[in-house]
Parts: sequence; structure tokens; C-alpha cells
Amino acid sequence: MFTGSELRKKFLDFFDQQGHLILPSASLIPQDDPTLLLTVAGMVPFKPYFQGKARPPHTRLATVQKCLRTPDLDSVGKTTRHHTFFEMLGNFSFGDYFKKEAIAWAWEYLTNVLGLPREDLWITVYREDKEAKQIWAKGMGVPGERIVPMGEDDNFWAAGPTGPCGPCSEILVDLGPARGCGAPDCGVDCDCDRFLEIWNLVFMEFNRDEAGNLTKLPRQNIDTGMGLERIASVIQGASSNFETDLLFPLIKKAAALSGLSYGENQKHDVALKVIADHSRAVAFLVADGVLPSNEGRGYILRRILRRAVRYGRLLGIEEPFLSKITASVIDLYEDPYRELREEEEYIQKVVALEEARFGETLEQGLQVLQDDLEELERKGERRLPGRVAFRLYDTFGFPLELTQEILAERGLTVDLAGFEEAMQEQRERARAARLEAAPTSRQGIWDTYRDFKTDFQGYGSLTAKAQIQALVCDEAEQQEAREGGQVQVLLDLTPFYPEGGGQVGDRGILKGPDGEVVIQDTKKVEENLIIHQGYVSRGLVRKGDVVLAQVNEKRRLATARNHTATHLLHQALRSVLGEHAQQTGSLVEPTRLRFDFSHFAPLSQDELRAVEDLVNQKIIENIAVRTCETGREEALAEGVIALFGEKYGDIVRVVGIGDFSKEFCGGTHVRRTSELGFFKILTESGIGTGIRRIEALTGEGLLAYWREQDALIGKAVAFLKATPEALPGRIEQLLREVREKEKELEQLRQKMMRFEVDALLNHVVDVDGIKVLAVKVQAPDMESLRSLGDLLKHRIGSGVIILGSPLNGKVGFVSFVTNDLVTREGLHAGNIIREVARIVNGGGGGKPEMAQAGGKNPTRLDEALRQGKEIIRHQLTGKC
Ligand code: ALA
Repeated sequence: MFTGSELRKKFLDFFDQQGHLILPSASLIPQDDPTLLLTVAGMVPFKPYFQGKARPPHTRLATVQKCLRTPDLDSVGKTTRHHTFFEMLGNFSFGDYFKKEAIAWAWEYLTNVLGLPREDLWITVYREDKEAKQIWAKGMGVPGERIVPMGEDDNFWAAGPTGPCGPCSEILVDLGPARGCGAPDCGVDCDCDRFLEIWNLVFMEFNRDEAGNLTKLPRQNIDTGMGLERIASVIQGASSNFETDLLFPLIKKAAALSGLSYGENQKHDVALKVIADHSRAVAFLVADGVLPSNEGRGYILRRILRRAVRYGRLLGIEEPFLSKITASVIDLYEDPYRELREEEEYIQKVVALEEARFGETLEQGLQVLQDDLEELERKGERRLPGRVAFRLYDTFGFPLELTQEILAERGLTVDLAGFEEAMQEQRERARAARLEAAPTSRQGIWDTYRDFKTDFQGYGSLTAKAQIQALVCDEAEQQEAREGGQVQVLLDLTPFYPEGGGQVGDRGILKGPDGEVVIQDTKKVEENLIIHQGYVSRGLVRKGDVVLAQVNEKRRLATARNHTATHLLHQALRSVLGEHAQQTGSLVEPTRLRFDFSHFAPLSQDELRAVEDLVNQKIIENIAVRTCETGREEALAEGVIALFGEKYGDIVRVVGIGDFSKEFCGGTHVRRTSELGFFKILTESGIGTGIRRIEALTGEGLLAYWREQDALIGKAVAFLKATPEALPGRIEQLLREVREKEKELEQLRQKMMRFEVDALLNHVVDVDGIKVLAVKVQAPDMESLRSLGDLLKHRIGSGVIILGSPLNGKVGFVSFVTNDLVTREGLHAGNIIREVARIVNGGGGGKPEMAQAGGKNPTRLDEALRQGKEIIRHQLTGKC
């Protein structure tokens, strides 16, 4: 019996012997593949090789690839063999070997290396693929009745709607009638558990285009895939994938957390399996840089994670638990998936945070759903209104599919059209709110111009002759605006860049025939509706005026420098930290730049330096910055960086900095990198889970910063009378001296205090046989008063001490009674001081041995101390 990890190794060793190059698993996020959200098969990273768009490093490859599929999400946990995350063992040929070898090696591996009984193996082939049938029958000697021809649905494989595809042949293991449904026609095409598909051999010969047409690929290729969990279940004689060493430890962990046992209750088993499966998916997705969100991969992660949390609740686990299971995933899978351990802290944080977020609303949401369901049942309806499902989604964070699944358990459904409608309405509301928030669209003034298209000419020039199309002043459209008036101006064309892509809007001036407008900001109200905001600085401007629009060039160029710098920084971060370091936000201003990106830990000094060095290196190389417009798909295929979650049109603008960086970008840039002058990172900090922020400077901003630093150093140099180089040494020396002086001072203080104590002790008087010291001192604060009193108490041996000191225009008192007098005479420092403080209009109290008080009237301090003795006497007599 082989363990999961032995199975991985055996597979790769076997194909290594057949001349294959072994590659590590690629990320779960397909690189540069807009057609796929996730890596769904071992062949995904190799699509360009199959399509002849890129050359493989070798014509024979083999991998164990991390995969994730979600079409069967709702079945996961309920069957023996479905997963979200799984590992695929695969061997690939790119125009090298074809059917004969692929079949022969698969057969040899299963029957010889793993020793599966030949008579248990069944084969399916594509109906029209006589060649494959022949090879199985003649070459491998599989009896004809165990080679089953099937149709296109089963035996024609494609990774997605478009791309490489081909007929396939599957190998199934007959697990025996006991595992089957018992139906008389149960066979390889039956959905029951008897015949388990373990290996799919795809004869990749075609490419499918967007219109669905098949064309022959330049070469014949092989793509195979065997599910590791499935083959492990067969080899380990497990009754499901979940009972193999690849998953059972996770089930055990979940069972331990819930205090339940696996195999005792079917409902619990489903929940345990869901948690085991989903925790793997969650850990691996986060490790590859996916964060929970409401879109794309982030939504898939969220759905899986929340489904796991809900199943945890069904097991009675009320506390957050998922990160405990993902911790076990990391232990179990760190070999060979090192990224899990490397990003452990990050994974655990993301999981805990998302679980906590969902935890806050889960109970409430379930209660709401429960009420709605009761209502539904009362009315005898079977479909939950879309609006209700949307509320669960929007307010309580229930992925639609989760609601659907909970409903399905009761045989109910969701009105999907209603859900979509509610979603659409919300989008509209959000859009309206955004517009409202935009200063240029106050009260929807610009709504009538919604379809207007301003011709943006600011990439090529910074001045242009344009005509005023509309003017808004005093919150309404006007024919003209006069000096001093705040205005918003719409031009037919403009060189002014409107705020967007993180880059601030341009400033400048509009010069008309009879007046000028100073432009303070430029924004987009709609995609093509650019509004200039400012005030009339001279004369008047009218609708219809032809103006000379001039962008503030200095500011624009400084901004462009910082924009180009963000691209360099983005790529440098990816090069130094890894591809997961992706932009999540940016702010590009003339004076500085701010760049947010995904990364799980603070950057070390070395990393920061490496990033800074790389950016500066690219500046020194004086690389040309080029922009071009191209088709979106084409650009993506070439590996141009697109910001995840951004919507791009079919034609995109690409900004390229040599071969170093290529990004989709609508912003303005310098012509060559050397224009940046120099680049410096000022700060690096965390701004959220897994999101870091860098602030940096270039060009003039950096010059100004250096000048400021120089001035500061200059000041320090002047103060300390040292050269800049000697500053650190000088400061260190000064600090040392200060510390020494402080020590000396403290020693002196102690000495003086001893003198003071001795002097004070001369004032001790006898009150009915008890030593009493009631004196006025000058203490800087209560703390010193207390320590002085404490010292006196020790020196007096047996007695009562009352100290009073003027303090900030008021009075402070402390009183001490030595223990013997507390016991023998029943004296109480708190009672004494309360009486004393009353004389200076104050109050206080404390314990028998020590008390303190304050008062408002320092002029009566002497009097109060004098009375102190009487108060003590009184307390002593009172006791008698
Ligand atoms: N790419 C093939 C599959 O996933 C091997 O089944």
C-alpha cells in the first residue's frame, strides 16, 4: 500500500524514466489566461504549448498539479469522490509521442508499477476513435467487452469553451458489485460508486475557437490526468477518497474539534467531509494569492470558506475553527507544497478574518432564513423570493449558492431572476451614489450631457484650442460666468487629464477672449464626459467661447514621473517578492506616490533595498516608455498586467517599459525612465490583512525631500557642533553623558533626602507617649511626598507621620502610622488625614498604615499640621 506522497513520487519517477521533464505544480491562478479563473487541470499551465504559441522547455513533461474545480461544489461531501481542490498526476507530450505510448505507459504504470489487477480495469474510448480501441485491444490485450465506446459528452475533453481539446480515453477501476447500485444495467457509464474513473488520456489534436469551430492543432499532443485522491483510495483500499491519508487527518481534526466521531452519523460525515475538502481549497487558494471578495476567484474562495463554516455550525462548532483545520492542511501538505508553510501566517490570518466576518452575521442570517422559510411553508410556496435571497447575500454575506443549498435540503428553490433584479437595482443605487459623491455631478447637473464625449488629447499635447460647451456656476447651468465665480466647464476637447487610475486630475488655465479660468481639478463624470473645475480669475467666460486650454506642465510632468515609477515599483515588487505582489490601489500625485499591493508580511530592509535598487537600475538604464492600443485578449495573452477586478474595454491602452513592465493603463507617463531622476521609498506599512502600502518619491519631490533632510542635519550639526559624519557618535556620547548625569543626580537626591529626613526627625514631638511628626515640606509632587513619608516611617521606628506640602496652589498630605500603633493603639492613618485635610477644605483617606489627601487652601496648611497633633491625641483618648 502506498501513501499519497509515495504515489506522487512513483508517478513522477516512472515518467522521468520515460524521458519526461518533471516540473513543479503551477499556481492555482492561471497565468495570463482570461478564459479560466482557476487551474482546473494539469494541462492548464501548458495551454500555450499545445496551441503552438510558446515553446515548451521539453516535448515531454510530467507534473503533479494543484487543481480546483467548482461545478460540483454542492456535491462535495455528499459523494465519495468529488472535490474542489485536488491534485492531478499528468504526463504531457507536445508533438512528441501520441496515443500508442500514452496508452502503453498508463497501462504499464497501473498494472506493473501499482500492481492493479488487469481484470478490474475498464476502458472507455471516443465512439469514433477506432485507433485507440485497437491499441487497447491488440496492444494491451484488454478484452473487447471491457472497452466501451462513448459519445462526445463523455469522451471528448476540453479545458474550457475555447482552446485545445480532443477525444479521450478513460481508465476506470471496477470496485466490485458491493460498491454499486445493483441496477441490472449498471456499467461504466453509471453514476454509482462501482466504476471509478481514475485516469483520463486526452489526445489533444484540436483547438476550438470562440465560434465553436474545431481546427487541427499544429501537432498531435497528449494530455493525461489522474486524480491523486482517487488512485490513493483504490491503492489504499479506502471506501472513499476521504478515508485516504490525503484527507483523513483533516476529518479527524474536524471530528476532534466538534467532539463527534466519523462514521456514526451520515449527516455529520457529510459535514466532516465538506470541511476536510474545503479547508484544503481555502489554504491553497489563499497561498496562491486569492483573497475573499464578491467577484471572480475571490468569490469562489468566499463561497467555499463560508460553506465550510456553515457545515462546522451544523456539527455544533460554535467557535471559529477553520484556521485550526487549515493549520492541519499546512502540516499535511507542506511537502511538496512549500508555499503553504512559507505563507502560513498570512493564510491563517486571512482565514480567521473571513470566518470572523461571516461569523458575525451567520446566526442572524440563518434566523432570518428560518423565518422566511416558515413563512414560505405557511403560504405553501416552494420558491424563495429573489429579494430575500439577495438580502441574505447583501446583509448577511450568504453566497447565493449557500442559500440555494440550504433550501435544496428542504426541496425548495430560489427565484433567480428576482435575485438578479435586486442585484441590478443595487448596482444602480451604488452608481447613483457614486455620482452624487463626485463633486462634478452635484444634483445631477451634468446628467443631460451624459452621452457627450469629450475628446481627450492630453497624451500628445498639453495645450489645445477648445470650445466651451457648457458652464455650471452657482449649481446651475449658465450662459456665462464672471470673475470670482466657481465654475465647472465642459469643453469639446481637452488636454486636461481627468482623475483616474490613481492619477490625480490636471490643473491649469483656460484663456478665453474676455477672461480666464483657473482650473483646480479635472474629473470624469461619465466615462467620456470630462469636467474642469475652477474659478474665473479674470473677466468673464461664456458658453461658446473658444479658449486656449493649458495644462500646468510642471505639475503634469511631476505626476507622470510618479506614474511611471508606480509601474516600475509594481514590477520590482513582483520580481523581488513574487507574482502574488499585485497592485490593489494607488495614488499618483505630483509630489509623491502611494502604492498598495498584496503581500502577507512587512518587507525586510533587504527586500526594500532590493526593490528600490531594481527601480533605480531601470531608471539608470534610461528605458523608453511606449504606449500602444491593442486588443484586450491579445494583450492578456502576451502577459500584460491587468488589475484584477478592473473592467477593461475590448481595445486597451498598454504602457510598456522595455521588456521590464507592461500594464494596462490610461495614465500619463514620461518618455524615458531616466526622466524620473531617482526613486526612493519613504515608508512601508500594513493597511489591512495581506495589503501593504509603500510611499515613495521621484524627481523634484525627492529633491525637496533631500533638501529637507539636509536642512535637518544642518540644524543638528549646528546644535552639536559636529560634522554630519560625527553626528551619530556625538549623539551617542551625549546620551551616555545624560544618563551618567541622571545617575549622579539621583544619588545626590537620595543623599539630600537623607539629610532632610534627619532634619525633619528633629521635629518629632511626643503626644501622649507616641512619637508624632507633623511637618510642612516642599515636595514637587505626591509621589515624592509619599517616598519621603515612607523613608521617615522607617526611620521613626514607631510613630505617626503627617506631611503636608503646597502643590500647584493646593495642598497635598500623606500620613503614615507604623504597624505597632495600628495594632496596639488602633490609630488609623486614613481617619487622621481626613480630619487634617478638612481644615484646608479638602478630603482624602486610605488604609490604617498609609493614607493621602488633598486640600484647596494652602494658607491654612500650618494650622492643619498643628491641629494634626490634637487630632491624634483625640483619637487616642477617643479610644480610651
Ligand atoms: N485534462 C484532462 C482532464 O482533466 C486530462 O481530465
